Amino acid sequence: MKKLTLIFFALALCATLLYSCTHASPTVFTNATMRPWFDNHCGGCHRTNASDAGAWEYNPYDATTIQNNISQLYKVIYTRKSMPRQKLSTSELEVFKTWYNSGQPTN
Ligand code: HEC
Repeated sequence: MKKLTLIFFALALCATLLYSCTHASPTVFTNATMRPWFDNHCGGCHRTNASDAGAWEYNPYDATTIQNNISQLYKVIYTRKSMPRQKLSTSELEVFKTWYNSGQPTN
């Protein structure tokens, strides 16, 4: 009987660990400089459920939408300068570049 109880608790622990690993809650993008930067320059078109969001979905409540796409974002913002179409000023581009070079912190 004792052994069974032990096995039960061991299984419950495994299930809990497995659940918390596969259902990790998303990190919110709170970086004080870059959160408003992305909100202002990209959010209008790319926010989840926006009509143009399909090309790249930006969700500030899930920082992985930045992290998982960082090389593509660097390309369109800095290399090609194709996004946003309303051109960014040199200083706005430098803000992005500085953040990019410092390892793209999300908070
Ligand atoms: C005025 C609306 C608008 C704004 C602002 C805007 N985008 Fe876009 N974006 C679009 C549309 C529409 C598309 C899809 C059509 C296309 O690729 O030209 C797109 C496509 C993209 C794509 C996928 C296509 C590709 O070229 O790789 C990425 C990535 C992207 N945008 C990133 C951004 C980023 C980052 C910003 C902010 C710095 C931004 N966009 C700002 C409208 C916008």
